[in-house]
Amino acid sequence: MNYELILKELKPSQEERDAIYETTKKVIDFINETCEKEGINAKANAVGSVAKNTWLKGNSDIDIFISFPYDDEMEYLKEKGLYLAYKTNEALDGKASEHYASHPYLTCDIDGYEVDIVPCYDLGENKPIKSAVDRTILHTNYIKSHLSKEQEEEVLLLKKFMAAIGTYGSEFKTGGFAGYLCELLILNYGTFEDTLRAAQKWKFHTTIDLEDFGTANDKIFKEDPLVFIDPTDKNRNVGAALRIERFVDFIVASRNFLAFVDDENLDKISEFFRPLKKQHLFNKSNEEIADYIAESFKDRETQTFVIKFPIPEMSADALHPQLLKTIDSICEKLEAEEFSVFKHAYWTDEEKCVIFTIELNVFKQGKYYIHQGPKVWPQKACENFKAKWGDALYPLEEYMVLTREREFKTAKEFITHLLKLENIHIIKVGKNIKEAICNDYDLFEIDEFLNDLDNHFNYDADKMNSEELAFDYLNTLDDFLNPGQYIKR
Ligand code: UTP
Ligand code: MN
Repeated sequence: MNYELILKELKPSQEERDAIYETTKKVIDFINETCEKEGINAKANAVGSVAKNTWLKGNSDIDIFISFPYDDEMEYLKEKGLYLAYKTNEALDGKASEHYASHPYLTCDIDGYEVDIVPCYDLGENKPIKSAVDRTILHTNYIKSHLSKEQEEEVLLLKKFMAAIGTYGSEFKTGGFAGYLCELLILNYGTFEDTLRAAQKWKFHTTIDLEDFGTANDKIFKEDPLVFIDPTDKNRNVGAALRIERFVDFIVASRNFLAFVDDENLDKISEFFRPLKKQHLFNKSNEEIADYIAESFKDRETQTFVIKFPIPEMSADALHPQLLKTIDSICEKLEAEEFSVFKHAYWTDEEKCVIFTIELNVFKQGKYYIHQGPKVWPQKACENFKAKWGDALYPLEEYMVLTREREFKTAKEFITHLLKLENIHIIKVGKNIKEAICNDYDLFEIDEFLNDLDNHFNYDADKMNSEELAFDYLNTLDDFLNPGQYIKR
């Protein structure tokens, strides 16, 4: 299949290139000059997709890593790294916000580009890493020296395809394929299309070891769906952040896409490189979408709860795993009480607000349940059980049992019980969000929530923004109701 037409939409123009290189050079030159002037022994490096020539048109962050000598103290690196970043931001009229990966770094808006300025160690010849970001310079060099000009275009196709089907990005929120992993897949399989042809047949624990290190079957990787041994570090899986959900999304999307390639269905093919157009939401206001969603939930004859609470001061990277753990644990406890969870999802703006959505097939139960005791055979155990429960006991099949009244007859009562401060220990709750979820939550049924949509998203002063946030949540609910839209087309 010829992808020339699609590539036209993905390749940055010469003007875009020139502009990006100019800003990159400005940042690097300023950092290096400052280091020289102030006697700081460090060096600015262009890394990431700009350095590798694998960024998608209109879609680039500029990644600048400041490398310090291997023997420098971590404290020194942190302090000088941030100092240089802030100074650069100021000199180039940027707008900075501090982030945290393995140590603090700065994201600056300079000339309208998102510029990440990250301190790291210079590993020289194969020294072990001292911080998680130290491999990045090696990655950049590896890709630059192995990826051919033609393959750069194949990377663009793969990255855009991944983005359109929702599997691009290794941050926890997505749990998908990092840019570096896409580049390595192209190195391994040659082209975009051959990568997808191979992916159709991937199994759990597919392993790729470009440099033949022989470490792919090590125990530490056993739980990973895809193991791609980092060519710059034999003990690192580049796919470590890839979750099984995104792994299978990519496999199934590859099959769907290649069927259209084999049919030469050009319209369908190009849709796989574009953001999903949801026809059923097209041109609708938030209120209309909310009505459609409320109707759909009603039709499912389930009961759906919305739990909303504020986020304490914390990074998005730390937030997502805590949310996932907490909602999973709430659902597990509901199941243990014989309620039945059909689907659940969380939404967050990553700054102020979290919303858990939990849909139940069984949400109300009868008054009684069977409480099971010991088997009938050991007499002593039965006596002990009787000492506790008295005459209410009777045998049922092999067990001594009694009929007891349930403490929680509705899922709503049980959720309310769980979220009390004195009961919250029953669930596994993220440590930073524990207080907020207990003390500051609101619980709604979905129709009630959707009826009063505006009110739930006006926590942000900016009116426009609150409409966008509400839409984003509604869109999540639409994904919830209509799964698989991104990978089918
Ligand atoms: P980016 O996420 O910016 O990736 O990380 P990228 O390659 O520049 O791709 P896009 O086009 O911006 O999406 C910058 C570098 O950090 C390292 C990689 O070396 C990457 O090139 N990195 C980042 C990882 O090794 N693993 C990750 O999960 C994330
Ligand atoms: Mn980047």
